Amino acid sequence: MAKVTISTLDKMKEAGERFVCITAYDATFARLVSEAGAETILVGDSLGMVLQGHDSTIPVTIEHMAYHTECVCRAAPEALVIADMPFMTYTTAEQAMTNATRLMQAGAQMVKMEGGTWLSNTISMLVERGIPVCAHLGLTPQSVNTFGGFKVQGRTPKEAKSILADAVEIQDAGASLLVLECIPSHLAADISRKLDIPVIGIGAGAGTDAQVLVMHDLLGLSGHAARFVQNFMEGQDNIQGALKAFVQAVKSGAYPREEHSYR
Ligand code: KIV
Repeated sequence: MAKVTISTLDKMKEAGERFVCITAYDATFARLVSEAGAETILVGDSLGMVLQGHDSTIPVTIEHMAYHTECVCRAAPEALVIADMPFMTYTTAEQAMTNATRLMQAGAQMVKMEGGTWLSNTISMLVERGIPVCAHLGLTPQSVNTFGGFKVQGRTPKEAKSILADAVEIQDAGASLLVLECIPSHLAADISRKLDIPVIGIGAGAGTDAQVLVMHDLLGLSGHAARFVQNFMEGQDNIQGALKAFVQAVKSGAYPREEHSYR
């Protein structure tokens, strides 16, 4: 596979071809994800939960993210690697620039930040200086304490309107990708249609341009699985088989199904 770039993903959206993102945090799994045919790898701050055993992503630091980004990037030269900016590392544009530089120098091709309108200025500043940005809206896990738990977002007309407005604004600010997490499927489909940039869904139904899952969830290794998670190890002999099954299911439209979605 040739190196995946943002142009590859833009073309896939234009052609109506779904692409795949899977989280990875180390070299071996990054290689397996890449070999399975996923176009993008997310070095997610979910590592705070699945690797470090915390009950949220809040304890993750920029040093943790830089270390795991380096491990992933050594092993997956073809995939586009997105690295998460951890909690409180992008409260100002200047702080974001310093911390995003750290992740880009660790090998990432894009950084991900949770938030909408308030991030516009930061997104513009990073993009203008050569750092592509993936935004993240809906259930943004770093705000778990504000939400009062890991809860579906965008269920009221007011919340839905606000998520749509945020999505348009972050696109206008220059974001290259958008992750929508745990929002009703009709809202995610509407946003994906309205935006020119590719939208990656997780718990956001089948109407987005791509899907992402946390690797440990799709391998059935997480104690508690959310409604939108499917265990792709079922019916497979090994991890490689499960990763390929997820990639194929996303591309063919077999995953996610109605039962994985929120109304
Ligand atoms: O950290 C992560 O793995 C994420 C995904 C859940 C999208 O942000």
